[in-house]
Amino acid sequence: MGQVNGKIAIVTGAASGIGRAAAIVLAREGARVMATDVDEAGLKETLALITKAGGTAATARQDVTDEARWDAVVAETEAAFGAPNILVNNAGIAIAGAIMDYSLADWQKQMAVNTDSVFLGTRAAMRAMAKGGGSIINLSSVAGLRGSAGVSAYCASKGAVRLFTKAAAVECATLGLNIRVNSVHPGIIDTPIWQKSITRITETMQPDQVSALTAHTGGNALDPNVIALGGTPMGRAGKPEEVALLILYLASDASSFTTGQEHVVDGGLTAS
Ligand SMILES: NC(=O)c1ccc[n+]([C@@H]2O[C@H](COP(=O)([O-])OP(=O)(O)OC[C@H]3O[C@@H](n4cnc5c(N)ncnc54)[C@H](O)[C@@H]3O)[C@@H](O)[C@H]2O)c1
Repeated sequence: MGQVNGKIAIVTGAASGIGRAAAIVLAREGARVMATDVDEAGLKETLALITKAGGTAATARQDVTDEARWDAVVAETEAAFGAPNILVNNAGIAIAGAIMDYSLADWQKQMAVNTDSVFLGTRAAMRAMAKGGGSIINLSSVAGLRGSAGVSAYCASKGAVRLFTKAAAVECATLGLNIRVNSVHPGIIDTPIWQKSITRITETMQPDQVSALTAHTGGNALDPNVIALGGTPMGRAGKPEEVALLILYLASDASSFTTGQEHVVDGGLTAS
């Protein structure tokens, strides 16, 4: 029997990386999954992977910053499968850049995609789960636990996710709702987000700033596995599936007494 048999999950950012892995693992373990993203081609691939493995899923185009779309996605999930009892707020971007050159527009976009979305998703899920209960899992980062040069807005967005998660968890428990809320804090995971973010560093930052930021990577700033050598005791980047298995635990009833906590999966990065 699957670890989330009979449950209904919404996973955002499911066209790539950690979100795709989470959708696949949850479906493999018995959940029916609504996979959402702005990337419709990527969603098709995710759906094909789930279906090929015998799982059940549907897809919906969703920009997680669009307030009205959240209600529609919950309604589409209810129509397809029933009321959701798992939400993985995973969609995210990393807009890198030095603070002195960073625009307010980039700051606001960073916060909208990574943080506003988590508020909107949590609110929609709490409304949908108020009767039947559920588990909300918010993707933060080790960048939500400590600072890093060149990604200050990303750090701020993920720090906000960490503390919003705790407040939401306490509020759910205090209101007597059977809804648990936890945050997941990956270290360096081998997904396309690195390519997107670091390409932007090299496009927008001064050459001397880029070399200061990438000195520890031996110049190979685009490869998360090389970056991981700089500070990850396990000496490699994580795989999306290794984060997905933690998400599975938090989604399942195995974590029934766990709420409001930050769960780090980083190969030891923050241990030293
Ligand atoms: N990869 C890492 O090293 C790492 C580390 C810590 C935290 N995280 C977090 O994990 C989450 C997943 O990242 P990933 O590494 O799998 O990245 P990824 O780039 O592979 O996937 C992110 C997905 O989010 C989608 N997305 C972006 N903006 C969106 C929007 N407005 N609406 C809907 N979907 C949108 C993208 O299309 C993409 O499919 C993010 O929140 C990220 O910040 C990643």
